[in-house]
Amino acid sequence: MSPIQKTIINKKTTNKPIWLMRQAGRYLPEFRKIRKLNPNFIKLCLDDNLSSKITLQPLKRFELDAAIIFSDILMVPYGLNQEVVFKKNFGPELGPINLERISNVNEDDFLNKLNPIYKSIKKVKENKLIINKDLIGFIGAPWTLLVYMINKFSPKKDLISDFFKDDILIKKILIILEKFLKIHIKKQIENGATIIQIFDSWAGLLGEKDLFNYIYTPTTNLVNYVKSFNVPVVCFPRGIKNYKNFCEIIKPDVISIDYDVNPISILKEIQIPVQGGLNPNVLLSDKTNLKKEVLKYLDIFKDHPYIFNLGHGVLPETDPMKVDYLVKLVKNY
Ligand code: CP3
Repeated sequence: MSPIQKTIINKKTTNKPIWLMRQAGRYLPEFRKIRKLNPNFIKLCLDDNLSSKITLQPLKRFELDAAIIFSDILMVPYGLNQEVVFKKNFGPELGPINLERISNVNEDDFLNKLNPIYKSIKKVKENKLIINKDLIGFIGAPWTLLVYMINKFSPKKDLISDFFKDDILIKKILIILEKFLKIHIKKQIENGATIIQIFDSWAGLLGEKDLFNYIYTPTTNLVNYVKSFNVPVVCFPRGIKNYKNFCEIIKPDVISIDYDVNPISILKEIQIPVQGGLNPNVLLSDKTNLKKEVLKYLDIFKDHPYIFNLGHGVLPETDPMKVDYLVKLVKNY
């Protein structure tokens, strides 16, 4: 059994496996080199030779316990025929939402568009670098995808003012998303993903009263779907105010925490395996501070099943040497 599976399934506490969100990305010169030659990000994600290669880049450098497939949560709206472009120094921008167009997409259309992602997973799975390690597949949570599909770009602080105006549209999109996210999960697992992580990057934008409609109910359906394959599911509801309620209602196998929550309260309140927490900014500080912060998380979760990770993705300005130092700290703990 892989180190991460031991932590999740056997609740082992004596080893602390590690992988990092955005471990394959712009902080690596070898990624930037490929990226420069491939200005279209969506096309790059759909090039199974390159995306499998990028997925494995961090494993060549560091002693990580998992690879996460190089793709994006917005490949699903793209597969549903909404226009998605990634603009330099701005991030993603989506085109107008056309319910009729989205409703007309069938499973074959969707799979035809996204097939290279599954081919890429298969390629990674066949590489010897992944032996006894996990291959993490992922989806965006329905709420976070809804945010992008209606808001059209990453919310700066709040959602656009008329976000909730068309209730029928929202309900219909959520139904369509659930159907296609299940297909996307199934395909990733069939091709070799051994864990599924659900990214709910904008969970923090909702108030208590909206959590049931937009997060608890739709995400529970997907968590249960992943579990039906006997594959562990990790939830990352970034910015959510009450992690304890989230875990009790949704029941993921692992909860990934962001850097705004107090890890000591998490340890007290939550029984399931925990992942993450360290502020990615800490990787921009000096080694002494980095060591202090890393040891803080390792000490707090010393007797708890814990997967080391960050509280959000590795920042592009991170020095790869710092990542190397971090991985070694965790491995030698
Ligand atoms: O290494 C990995 O973590 C695997 C690949 C991965 C990417 N995106 C690649 C990527 C994963 C798991 C994601 C998830 C994702 N994508 C999320 C959830 C996690 C989070 O960050 O909150 C979200 C919200 C997105 C949407 C998205 N994609 C944004 C907002 C951006 C632009 C901002 C940014 O961080 O660059 C992207 C682009 C993106 N996705 C890049 C990468 C490596 C950078 C693309 C580039 O080279 O310009």
